[in-house]
Parts: sequence; structure tokens; C-alpha cells
Amino acid sequence: MTVAARCPIDLDLVDPDTFATGLPLDAFATMRDQAPVFWHDQPGAWGEGFWVVTRLEDVREVSRTPEVFSSYARGALLTLGDQVDEEAALALTRQLMLNMDPPEHGAYRQIVQRAFNPRTIRALEARLQEFADDIVDRALAKREGDFVQDVAAELPLLAICELVGVPVEQRRAVFELSNRMIGFDDPELGGSPEAAELAMAEMFGMADALAHERKGRPGSSDDTDIISKLLAADTGDGALTPDQFGIFFVLLMVAGNETTRNAITHGMQAFFEHPEQWELFKAERPLETAAEEIIRWASPIIQFQRTALADYELGGQQIKAEDRVVIYYSAANRDERSLLDPDTFDVTRVDNEHVAFGGGGPHFCLGANLARAEVRILFDTIARRMPDIAPLGPPRALRSNFVHGIKELPVRYCS
Ligand code: HEM
Repeated sequence: MTVAARCPIDLDLVDPDTFATGLPLDAFATMRDQAPVFWHDQPGAWGEGFWVVTRLEDVREVSRTPEVFSSYARGALLTLGDQVDEEAALALTRQLMLNMDPPEHGAYRQIVQRAFNPRTIRALEARLQEFADDIVDRALAKREGDFVQDVAAELPLLAICELVGVPVEQRRAVFELSNRMIGFDDPELGGSPEAAELAMAEMFGMADALAHERKGRPGSSDDTDIISKLLAADTGDGALTPDQFGIFFVLLMVAGNETTRNAITHGMQAFFEHPEQWELFKAERPLETAAEEIIRWASPIIQFQRTALADYELGGQQIKAEDRVVIYYSAANRDERSLLDPDTFDVTRVDNEHVAFGGGGPHFCLGANLARAEVRILFDTIARRMPDIAPLGPPRALRSNFVHGIKELPVRYCS
């Protein structure tokens, strides 16, 4: 019997404090070199531990082999083993398509797929530009402030609410609820598992109210009205139940907000740290390649979990059926085996085959086209309208083992 590889350095990837000052990039490099697939202990959680996967090609292989690496079995969020009734919690989260396997997953995904395709997102771009101009107007009027709150958080929220069909007067409430749901590891964000659960219940209530309101005015359905689409959907087992509708709504709201917000904030910080790239961006506007590079550099989702349904060999390690496998996008996006000079922030980078949106396969980020458009339009607008934006202090990292986040970035807004 072979012995499982161990972490070459002493680092707890479950402890949110490990990420309290940012990604442990040096440790990730050591892992990729010395033990690209290794066993991480996690006493008290399912299987008492999990496999850590850090090389880009291995992350891809896991993502593209859903028949072996299940999102459904133990969910896609890292199991923490701290829930009183884990099976009950799993039963609920399994209603999210993020935590489904094919073929059930496909039936859910096709309900909303069209609303996120390149054509639909292109049609939304003029509106995104209006939002971006308005955000920059308000930031300039303030002269200085927190970039996260003033700029980065606004566009993703407005974009997803617009696409989903959330009325303007409810958008602030969505923003606050999604913050409370994702910041559960960071006490500063009012975070606690109880607060997250309460916020989720409130968002469910909002979804329910919107469903009632929409049912009361039929005929409003169009290409981008996702609420009407969901209400009319049939996954093969009839219409979505109110719970299924609520959970779909929550997924769309939360997935689209935090991730893009952090991509934008990390992008701004990367430009502050690499002023020559900001000058190049302003002069040449390589919008497409810059957006892709910002998203790779940010890697807003640190990791997602899978569970093996069969024995499988990966990176020379023997994974057993029922073992959990955690794929670290954040480590893979700095893998020099797959990316040229990955520790360089280069807004003109081509062949940027990063895995910030996932490693391919059925769960590849539904909102990738939307996120790219937001990043592109916002940075183009910042470069045009406040080219001399400058930092007033260091960024403060979010304490989370899941979201690579910045919770505050003090800046001066200069036109
Ligand atoms: C820079 C911003 C974003 C990043 C880095 C990101 C990242 C990811 C990642 C890593 C996954 C999992 C992929 C996998 O398991 O293979 C994912 C899935 C998903 N993302 Fe995004 N995302 C972003 C923006 C968005 C936006 C704007 C939306 C809009 C609603 C969105 C909606 C979703 C949904 C619904 C899923 C689940 C897809 C499925 O299970 O089929 N994301 N995203």
C-alpha cells in the first residue's frame, strides 16, 4: 500500500487565518513543486481530511471528470464538519445547481444558460456603461473613499439585479444580504454562521415576494427576465418548487456579486502595485486581455470541493472512492507548468488559459461573460474618467478560506 503524500510545509488550509493577509503564494509554489496532490488532515470532518490539488492541469482534470468527481456527494463548498446536522444541510444545498451532478445539473443550467450567453451580455453592455459612468461620477464627487464600497461593489450588484429583474428599490437589500451570507468567517463583516443563515432566509423571503409579484403580471417574460424564466421552467419533474426557486435566486445573486467585486478590487490594487501596467493600459486599452489577466491575478474563488465516486489516480496519488478532493484555482493560476511567467501581472498576456472561472466541465462559471464585460467596462471608464486614481492606504484582506477578498481599499479619486 502506498502512503499518501503530505503537505511539504506546516500550513492549515482550513483555518481562515491562513488567508487573513492574502493568498499563501509561496506555500502554493512549494506544494505544486513537491506535493501537487497531497492529503490534508481535517479532524472531525467527513473522511477526516481531503486531497489538495494545486497544479493547473490536475485542476482541469478533476473539473472535467464529473462522473468521478462529484459536486453532489458532499457539496462543492469545503466541508467544515461543524454543522449539527450535516445531512440536513446537504439536502438543502443539493438543490443548488452548483452542487448537482449531470444529468440533473444540465436540466437546471439550461433554464438560465441563454440569459448569460455572449449575445445577451453584449445587449446589456450599454446599460453597464451607464452604471459605470454613474458610479465614477459619484466617486469623483466624494474625492476619496473606500474603493470596495464606492466602486467595486456597485457594478456587479447593479448588473446582476438588472439581468435577473430585481426592482431598483430592492437592490440595496440584496447587497447587504449577500455580504452577510458570504462574510461568515469574518466577524468584522458581521459574520457568523447564524447571521449567514438568517440572511439566506431573508433572501428566500425576497425571492418569494418577487415570484408572487411577477406571477401577478404575466406576459413580462423576455430574454433577460430570469425571474419569469425560472417561474416558467420545467426541469423534467414539473415547475420549480418555491424552495427551488428561492435557492436558484440566492445562487445567482451571491455568485455574481462577491466574485466580480473582488476581481475589480484586486485589479485596481494590481495596477497600484504595477504602475507601468496602469500607464500601458491607459495608453493602449488592451481591454480584453487586461480583463482576463485581472481575473486570473485576482482568483476570487480560492477553491471548490469534489468527492470521488470511484478510485482514481491523480498526480501519482491513489484517491479512494468517497475521498474529498479540493481544487485550488488560486494555486493553479500561478502554475508555471501551464502559464508563461505566471507571477508577472501582464495586461497584454495572450493564451491566458487560467482557471479562475473553473477548470472547464459542466460547472464552468455561468457568469463568466458577464464578469468579463463588467471588468472591461469599469476599468475602461476609470482609465478615461479618473486616470490618476491613487491609493491612500494598504488593502485589507477578507478572512476567508473560500473567497479571496479585499474588504477595504482606501483611495483618492482623481480625474
Ligand atoms: C470574476 C468573477 C467570477 C469568478 C472568478 C467566478 C468563479 C466561478 C467558479 C470558480 C465557479 C465554479 C466552476 C466549476 O466548478 O467548474 C463558478 C460557478 C458559477 N458562477 Fe461564477 N464567477 C464569477 C462571476 C460570476 C457572475 C457574474 C455570475 C452571475 C450570476 C456567476 C454565476 C455562477 C454560477 C451560477 C455558477 C455555478 C455554475 C454551475 O454549477 O453550473 N459567476 N464561478
